[in-house]
Amino acid sequence: MQQVIIDCDPGIDDALALEFAIKSKELDVLAITVVAGNAPVDIGVENAFKVLERCDRLDIPVYRGAEAPLKRSYVSAQDTHGMDGFGESEIIRRSTVHVQEETAEAFLANFFAKKREVGILALGPLTNIALALKSNQKLGQNMQRFVTMGGTYKSHGNCSPVAEYNYWCDPDAAKVVYETLDTLVEMVGLDVTREIVFSPNILEYCHRISPDTGDYLRKLTRFYFDFHWQYEHLLGCVINDPLAVAYYISPEICSGFESYTTVETTGMSIGQTLVDRYNFWQKEPNAKILETVNTKEFFTQFLTVLLDAPEATIASDLNLLKLG
Ligand code: RIB
Ligand code: CA
Repeated sequence: MQQVIIDCDPGIDDALALEFAIKSKELDVLAITVVAGNAPVDIGVENAFKVLERCDRLDIPVYRGAEAPLKRSYVSAQDTHGMDGFGESEIIRRSTVHVQEETAEAFLANFFAKKREVGILALGPLTNIALALKSNQKLGQNMQRFVTMGGTYKSHGNCSPVAEYNYWCDPDAAKVVYETLDTLVEMVGLDVTREIVFSPNILEYCHRISPDTGDYLRKLTRFYFDFHWQYEHLLGCVINDPLAVAYYISPEICSGFESYTTVETTGMSIGQTLVDRYNFWQKEPNAKILETVNTKEFFTQFLTVLLDAPEATIASDLNLLKLG
């Protein structure tokens, strides 16, 4: 079992990723830190608690992080995730458990003041990570792994022709992390996450296997389905963040290459991931860029956990489903 801290901006796919990670037997989620991204940070905190309630894990501490990017003005993705950041699902929080007093960046900087067999799984803009790094330069050396959902190598962007939201929202934070974290940045970008389409077929299957979970997933993803149909004429929704969880658990689910990588912070291509695969800049690789994914293996792992069903059942049923 791997111990991990999840930094996120819940967010519909973050919510699915958090549930997947918390319920997985392979991960021990020590804490959740929230950053402004899909929704303003206080809405993100509320949504993190909604997931913890659903998983009956209100023992996991939640830390409130950055309200805005390092330099850019904050732009949310509430057009995609709903004003409540939860698909306007009307799913409400019942508990009154409070967020921790310590800020996310202070918690992360202090926690990694010494070497830990604990990794960070970053599912949103990297503002909290960059702030923690600025106060603790050993942050990267003291963590076990750093996996980030973000960026894109060859796939088109989702905020501009070349930029993916997490790095477009806070490009300065992404640049600081890639250039100074001093540990391999494992980038789960749009090149692989675009293969992960939570389709109406899969939603219907979830409902057949577990009606309650199916109802929850239907409420949570309806708004996301509508967005994807309206803007990409896609039936279903791309669930980016759960793939980062699956990759953290089973790195063999994706393949890629190591390369020096940084992020553009100005101009029309702001937020673009600059992947120097052919080493023009003669710099040591600082990132692992993932290019391919075993989609069936992802859905087998993801649905086995989310539906609390036998893996063999899910694996054989998935042969019947037209994935993607
Ligand atoms: O571009 C997709 C990423 O941005 C996902 O993490 C989504 O939740 C948003 O944070
Ligand atoms: Ca996210």
